[in-house]
Amino acid sequence: MLRARITGTGSYLPKKILSNHDLEKMVDTSDEWITTRTGIRERRVAADSEATSDLAVNAARRALEMAGVAPEEIDYLVVGTITGDFPWPATACLVQDRLGAKNAFAVDVSAACSGFIYALDSAVKQVVSGAVGKALVIGAEVLTRIMDWTDRNTCVLFGDAAGAVVVEATDGGSGVLSTHLHSDGSYWELLYQPGFGTRHPVSEQGIKERIPFLRMQGNEVFKVAVRSMTEVAEEALAANGIKAGDLRLFIPHQANIRILDAVAKRLGLGEDQVFVNVHKYGNTSGATIPVALDEANRQGMLKEGDLVLLDAFGGGFTWGSVLIRW
Ligand code: ACO
Repeated sequence: MLRARITGTGSYLPKKILSNHDLEKMVDTSDEWITTRTGIRERRVAADSEATSDLAVNAARRALEMAGVAPEEIDYLVVGTITGDFPWPATACLVQDRLGAKNAFAVDVSAACSGFIYALDSAVKQVVSGAVGKALVIGAEVLTRIMDWTDRNTCVLFGDAAGAVVVEATDGGSGVLSTHLHSDGSYWELLYQPGFGTRHPVSEQGIKERIPFLRMQGNEVFKVAVRSMTEVAEEALAANGIKAGDLRLFIPHQANIRILDAVAKRLGLGEDQVFVNVHKYGNTSGATIPVALDEANRQGMLKEGDLVLLDAFGGGFTWGSVLIRW
């Protein structure tokens, strides 16, 4: 049976660090409040010269190098992002150009913090169907450019990053075992970026009303995130007849340590089974999972045959999981 296997991982974090203490000088907040409520201690901020495609290209090069795959061998290039360089064309097309992945078809997926999981699902299905031999899947965001730096409710939570994986066909026993995706559009207003799109075209008034920036009702998001991430993890385990205790690693979307702890507790996971790096990077939306997967991989945490469960939740609302035998 044809399966899709991850043969290379890569990530890129901008150099500039913004600590909680730095934020204390910008808004009415404290290191203590941010750490206790979110677990975040610092986050990365892209340089003025860097846009999302720059971060994506750096992460992609590392993943391609690990896989031993040349850019021209990629058939499908997909980027999960909500902070593309431009409204269009797709950031994936810019990345294709920069990498020289000239034989690929390239597209973006917009599913907020679930963007990488949705993108990975599409690559897996392309590969398993035989339509595509090799795919490059990227999650990349420069969220600091859509932050309202006067809103302490949101600006302390997010950061910039990119992560990438190479997906190839294999007929062995390892690879992606299943993917599970869900959306509920009735929650769209709890987490979104109001402008400037066709609902709120560009206007001076819009800038005054700060509509180009991310808006969120944090405590409502929190509750649905915990419930949905738990359910979609259980769905993946049940679909494959696997118990939570069999997982080597659970890699959840890194939004907030309290969300991660609540989900891990409900699933009955041990501390050593849950990968956490939210303290270093904050919430980088579509980039959190591929960055975490790359860190776990390069730290030698994943051995052949290990079971790894990816689990994301984000604006839309969208959520999903991917179960992998490494
Ligand atoms: N510093 C100090 N005080 C703050 C800050 C801050 N940065 N932000 C909010 N507060 C204040 C609020 O104004 C409020 O004050 P008030 O009681 O005087 O009105 C108080 O802290 C409590 O606010 P709440 O919103 O109730 O705080 P809560 O405990 O819910 O924590 C948080 C807020 C951290 C945003 C939490 O709701 C959360 O993590 N939600 C999940 C949101 C999330 O992660 N979204 C990311 C996208 S979705 C995803 O990735 C899963």
